[in-house]
Amino acid sequence: MQRDVLAESVLGDGRRLQLVTAEPGDADAICAVILDAFGARPQVDPPPPALAETPEGVRAALAGGFGVFALVDDQPAGVVIVSIANDVAGVHRVSVRPSFQRLGIASAMVTVVLEELTGQAVHRVELVARAEFPQVVSWWQRHGFVEVARVGTSLTLARELPLCITAATAEDTQQVGRRLAQLVRAGDVLIASGELGAGKTTLTQGLGEALGVSGAVISPTFVLSRVHRSTVGGPDLVHVDAYRLGSAAELDDLDLDDSVADSVTLVEWGAGLAEGLSDERLEIDIRRGLDPEDETRWIFLTPVGPRWAGLREEWEQR
Ligand SMILES: Nc1ncnc2c1ncn2[C@@H]1O[C@H](COP(=O)(O)OP(=O)(O)OP(=O)(O)O)[C@@H](O)[C@H]1O
Ligand SMILES: [Mg+2]
Repeated sequence: MQRDVLAESVLGDGRRLQLVTAEPGDADAICAVILDAFGARPQVDPPPPALAETPEGVRAALAGGFGVFALVDDQPAGVVIVSIANDVAGVHRVSVRPSFQRLGIASAMVTVVLEELTGQAVHRVELVARAEFPQVVSWWQRHGFVEVARVGTSLTLARELPLCITAATAEDTQQVGRRLAQLVRAGDVLIASGELGAGKTTLTQGLGEALGVSGAVISPTFVLSRVHRSTVGGPDLVHVDAYRLGSAAELDDLDLDDSVADSVTLVEWGAGLAEGLSDERLEIDIRRGLDPEDETRWIFLTPVGPRWAGLREEWEQR
């Protein structure tokens, strides 16, 4: 049967992993995977509803949302079922058959689910995990989920999805920077990623202009970090290009810690290096499509930490 393949990769042991959209006809196989996966866990009280899953239940859940089904060399290996209510997606029944665990299949499924949801009108993803399984809870935390509620031993974990903005021209990307200027304040750390020429500096130009800072924002070729002083009594803009830096230690040598509190700090190529500057930050990821003739950029804004929790509402109000 021709299937809608969402992602494909080769596992460490050479077998082929395919993630496909679950179809109603898969309900029996999916139910078997769920019962197999949840049945292998140590028992907890009350038992998880997944242990009472049925093919009818799977079909109903798929009709109200979607499912990602993992096949290893065409054998059912794992599943995730997603429900969507207003702007919140619920992740359910995250299951990998015991014989297919520790191969990264759950991570691959969750990555595909988050990609599928980004760009839809979904703002937030939630799931329930059991406190009896701290290793499961920390696995979700490593995937960016935080605890938002707890009833008995059932924890609700949630993660905000990035805000996605389309910028057809360089001017549009600058405009995103100008709009961001209305949201930022002293102490904020922005980490910009995206390939060479994505538009990180272009966005920073709009940010600097609307912040009212002095000096042209340009690509720092020899200077790795440039301070643009505010001319309007607001925060300075510290613009850093970490492209040539090999390590977080080299970034430390720039002594950004001294200026962070009084400035807005934007680090290009900062992903993986500059997170130490602040636990709370705005991650800006700029991507192009595959067509080289098309200059459109997709700008993904990901809030990290309580400081940025209201980003989406604030963005939509400006
Ligand atoms: N929609 C768009 N958004 C942003 N830049 C665009 C767009 N369309 C065309 N451009 C052009 O793409 C280039 C982006 O360059 P820019 O220096 O901002 O990228 P960068 O991400 O900072 O690259 P680097 O990694 O080299 O620092 C500019 O020449 C800009 O005019
Ligand atoms: Mg640049």
